Amino acid sequence: MQEGPPDTLTQKLPLTTVILAMSADGKISDRGRSPARFGSAADQTHLEEQVSLVDAVIFGAGTLRAYGTTMSVRSPQLLAQRQVRGQSPQPVQIVCSASGDLDPKVRFFSQPVPRWLLTTAAGAQQWDGCDGFETVWVAPQRQEGMDWQEIWRSLSGFGFERVAVLGGGALAAAVFEAGLVQEFWLTVCPLVLGGAAAPTPVDGLGVLAEVAPRLRLRSLEQRGDEVFLHYGVLHDEAISGEK
Ligand SMILES: NC(=O)c1ccc[n+]([C@@H]2O[C@H](COP(=O)([O-])OP(=O)(O)OC[C@H]3O[C@@H](n4cnc5c(N)ncnc54)[C@H](OP(=O)(O)O)[C@@H]3O)[C@@H](O)[C@H]2O)c1
Repeated sequence: MQEGPPDTLTQKLPLTTVILAMSADGKISDRGRSPARFGSAADQTHLEEQVSLVDAVIFGAGTLRAYGTTMSVRSPQLLAQRQVRGQSPQPVQIVCSASGDLDPKVRFFSQPVPRWLLTTAAGAQQWDGCDGFETVWVAPQRQEGMDWQEIWRSLSGFGFERVAVLGGGALAAAVFEAGLVQEFWLTVCPLVLGGAAAPTPVDGLGVLAEVAPRLRLRSLEQRGDEVFLHYGVLHDEAISGEK
């Protein structure tokens, strides 16, 4: 097994990082699926730093419904570093919603960021003639749903070299299952949320332990009562599935 970006056939896919904060008992929100604001100021800074590194972020509709906003890059230093790297001021913010059922009045739609919608043909119809998104992208489909391998090939085709997945558990499950994740940042926060139905970092159907993606710890840092874990995902044909 080796760390590193997967190649699908000969095309190099974007370097993909999943970034999440969870309670000490492994929940990314409470049982009411309220916006997860339990991370400290240091965790918010960490998230902004990670977002500042990428060309696009992608998150699920449930996450947008919970927060109504997204993390943009505001630090002058991080904005300057993006300019030096030749990146646009803000990463493209891609919302994944099969239904397209999103409230156009939430603050996200007035944030100064480029907005794309990744959806189905039916979801796209909902946004026909609306200007909330600069791009409405109908996802390629497979029998079981969106074709994540193909979506990632398209992201590469759009010139995105680094992508961050900002949750929630449903979207993270889809990209892990498709073997597309190379890095995983997890902040362990000092609270216990409990709740069998409360979302976890990777939900979906889950996988059996013998085929579970394996991780290598790259760094571990304590700041106050929080722990910042940085993992690399080990890639292997048997583990990552189709690549
Ligand atoms: N602690 C953290 O770091 C963190 C980060 C993010 C979110 N959260 C929390 O997580 C919760 C939201 O998570 P969630 O479980 O609702 O997950 P989510 O992935 O944010 O949203 C799920 C929705 O996104 C769309 N979607 C996701 N994966 C899809 C796929 N494979 N194919 C098609 N559509 C897909 C669907 O939208 P449609 O329903 O429109 O079809 C689906 O219902 C909130 O409580 C939020 O506070 C916490």
